[in-house]
Amino acid sequence: MALVSRTPFVGGNWKMNLARARAIELACAVESAAGQLAVEWAIFPAAVHLDAVAASLTERSHLGSQDCSAHADGAFTGQVSAEMLADIGCTSVLIGHSERRHGLGESDALLSRKLGRALKGSLVPILCVGETLHQRDAGDAHAIIRSQLRGGLAGHEEDTLGPLIVAYEPVWAIGTGRTATADDAADAHRTVRQTLEDLYSARFAQRVRVIYGGSVNAKNAAELFSREEIDGGLIGGASLNATDFGAIMTAAAARVGQ
Ligand code: PGA
Repeated sequence: MALVSRTPFVGGNWKMNLARARAIELACAVESAAGQLAVEWAIFPAAVHLDAVAASLTERSHLGSQDCSAHADGAFTGQVSAEMLADIGCTSVLIGHSERRHGLGESDALLSRKLGRALKGSLVPILCVGETLHQRDAGDAHAIIRSQLRGGLAGHEEDTLGPLIVAYEPVWAIGTGRTATADDAADAHRTVRQTLEDLYSARFAQRVRVIYGGSVNAKNAAELFSREEIDGGLIGGASLNATDFGAIMTAAAARVGQ
């Protein structure tokens, strides 16, 4: 009997990298590396390249945005709405990546509104949570995870949150080459799931995919994904290389037969 019934998910967050031609080339290489793997995957190119990358993919459903506006439309200079993203083929969106929480000061209240817009626009929201090194050293990691989840999900009912994915991304592990141990990540993921159960129901908590992000690479992915609690990954640096990202998707797909 399969131990894991949640379909693994692997996202490639390209951040503010790649020129247009290279983005198209990489998208094609990732699509061919994914082949028929039993994994859901998505790439998150820079907003300006989304349309071109969408056109280059055989299956547009693998396209996601790194952010969306908390508003539907109107006088919001520089912002892009969930509806606009869905219109060009995006099916998912990152909400509250730490580079936006900490780099741009996005609050839980703002993220909760973005999450609502994503759901209304039929995008799968990938809500990112995770503690800083200072918070971890102070012994507050689990409290931070709980409070970011409660804040980001505030005002949202279980029946509207169907497609939600949560990404646990400890800030100290992002882009640093320092990965959380599989034990630490699994521990944090149990806290995520317990919080979802406290907020909603055990059934919901068991269904939501909780993925790990923070210096995942082709070498450490299999160990992380061997844990029942870790349903896949959100990959930054290593997603810019199709071979490495392919190896990470393959490691996630191996969960299915476990
Ligand atoms: P990293 O980034 O894999 O480069 O650490 C992960 C992320 O920011 O989602």
